[in-house]
Amino acid sequence: MSEAPFPVSRPRRLRRTAALRELVRETRLAASDLIYPLLIDDRGPARQPVASMPGIDRFSVEAAVDEAGEAFEEGIRAVLLFGLPSSKDARGSRADPPDGVIQRALRALREALPDLVLITDVCLCEYTDHGHCGLLEGDRVANDPTLERLASQAVSHGAAGADIVAPSDMMDGRVAAIRAALDEASLEDVAILSYAAKYASAFYGPFRDAAESAPAFGDRRGYQMDVRNADEALREVGLDIAEGADLIMVKPALPNLDIVRRVKDRFRRPTAAYQVSGEYAMIEAAGANGWLDAGAARLEAAYAIRRAGADLIVTYAARRLARAL
Ligand code: PBG
Repeated sequence: MSEAPFPVSRPRRLRRTAALRELVRETRLAASDLIYPLLIDDRGPARQPVASMPGIDRFSVEAAVDEAGEAFEEGIRAVLLFGLPSSKDARGSRADPPDGVIQRALRALREALPDLVLITDVCLCEYTDHGHCGLLEGDRVANDPTLERLASQAVSHGAAGADIVAPSDMMDGRVAAIRAALDEASLEDVAILSYAAKYASAFYGPFRDAAESAPAFGDRRGYQMDVRNADEALREVGLDIAEGADLIMVKPALPNLDIVRRVKDRFRRPTAAYQVSGEYAMIEAAGANGWLDAGAARLEAAYAIRRAGADLIVTYAARRLARAL
């Protein structure tokens, strides 16, 4: 493509007015592209503000239904549920009982908001007393024994009404194990959104405060990906699709837009990017200090994530974005 040189070409012609800019915009963003994460706490009051995530609360089951209803009114069509259980132990026993916090929330949300897409985070770290995403053997997170626990958690979510289960643990083989267990339980219509390329990231810090899920020792680098690797992310996504993932996710979003683009170009699947807690906190904290315009920065980040190839954005700013659109 050869461009006529200046003065024939004047790219500013099409930037002259808001109407012209609107006419030639390449990227669209709608409230229905957004997935709103909700932290549901089995112990706390109705709403408890998360100090490191200004504007975000942990909810009781009842308050979560109210919050999701308000989000639905604003155009948001999907929520991603995280649970804080009544108690924790080594094997994450509260991850899969029928009366668990997520299972109860799913039934309440399904009843109150039949058209809201219900997605659940499938992982053990919120449920284990050691804070790791799987079962331990000594100091090691044991891959294969963990698969059965994740599959059981996914089945219990599907049985309680989840439309989509989203494994975020980064164990090898979890998508296949979850798919097989769902099918075995006649839950073949429950879809899997795999956190396929999930990096070990400092940007999860505020979430771990909020979910009280920081590892008690060590870190997650033995299972989450090394930020220095990109080809490996494509292998991870390829494996998860081969195992039966219906949708795939890259996480965190802004630091990994190159991965979002490569994943979308290579696999052409419904692709989500997760703008994680630290990404959210940076914008909100700087905005609160008057260092930048948080409203504009939220939109810019969301458009950039869409432009990189994400169909869907998981973001704590979903409600504020929906109102701004
Ligand atoms: C659970 C999980 C985490 C996040 C999503 N699912 C925490 C982690 O991996 O430590 C992070 C979400 C966020 O930072 O917003 N494994």
